[in-house]
Amino acid sequence: MNLTHRPRRLRQDRVRGLVSETSLEPSDLIAPVFVDATTDERIPIESMPGHERVPVDEAVARVEDVLETGVEAVMLFGIPESKDPEGTRAWAEDGVVQEAARRISADTDAYVITDVCLCEYTDHGHCGPLEEALRGEAGYEGCAHDPTLTVDNDATLEALDRIAVSHAEAGADMIAPSGMMDGMVAAIREGLDREGFEHVPIMSYAAKYESAFYGPFRDAADGAPAFGNRRHYQMDPANAREAMREVRLDAEQGADVLMVKPALPYLDIVSDLRREFDHPIAAYNVSGEYAMLHAAAEKGWLDLEAVAHESLLSIKRAGADLILTYFAEDVAQGLTAGR
Ligand code: PBG
Repeated sequence: MNLTHRPRRLRQDRVRGLVSETSLEPSDLIAPVFVDATTDERIPIESMPGHERVPVDEAVARVEDVLETGVEAVMLFGIPESKDPEGTRAWAEDGVVQEAARRISADTDAYVITDVCLCEYTDHGHCGPLEEALRGEAGYEGCAHDPTLTVDNDATLEALDRIAVSHAEAGADMIAPSGMMDGMVAAIREGLDREGFEHVPIMSYAAKYESAFYGPFRDAADGAPAFGNRRHYQMDPANAREAMREVRLDAEQGADVLMVKPALPYLDIVSDLRREFDHPIAAYNVSGEYAMLHAAAEKGWLDLEAVAHESLLSIKRAGADLILTYFAEDVAQGLTAGR
């Protein structure tokens, strides 16, 4: 055969590294950490093997373990001691995330990012206070069948401003709003600037889909909606053009980093954003993406280390600069060990 093109030439062992287009580094990864104010012991999260909810007293130890692997950033999620219709514990000065952020930023070099949302703090589990009319005497009974049920967008913006400021005051390095409220980035930017936190960046969960892949997280953070669903604020998985519109709005409002969530089922969106924006792009490899690989590996059907690495590499190849992932520590350890 007289073949001019033989792509296999460049797949030989010693040249692969030279022509590799994508690389994965521990410094690309952000490890989610769950801090739980209702416990004084670590509680394993069943659907997310290897992950735990840790009490505030162990938040520093937990983050030190993350840093040990080479991962430099954590995303804090809080489980509060009590919940109410407005989610008031979300902005308490002695709230679970505030307390943990204060200690972690004092005692470690970790870059501390905080998830800013109300779903873990409201007793109904939605991402903001419900519209007044629906909070009648009958409580929430029947809301599941009420097609007009929804979160009060603008009341939520006021709460997000307070939460973000309280996190920054506690030492958070970056604020990550995840509630998909209209105007959330502008509200938080205004709050942070007003209180002297102009230097604190915002990573917006800009294109966040209403995804069934969040199931294990909702167990982990106790944040499942008590009724109904989140499709009146999170995005329809059918839509890609709408993602561009959403993300453009967040960019206009001053978001510093733009996130797509989930990651693997939405790599087309990651790739679209990469082409359209010059901002750093983040992708959230969510709980369901983690749980399904673990479940298959447990059955002996997949090689966990290999599929975890391939997943994260693919997310980078699609255009993400940073990845939030429950695999952060394991993959970073593998990278450091040269596997
Ligand atoms: C909302 C939030 C959620 C996740 C991150 N932030 C849950 C939701 O929107 O239902 C999901 C993360 C995951 O599944 O790993 N505070």
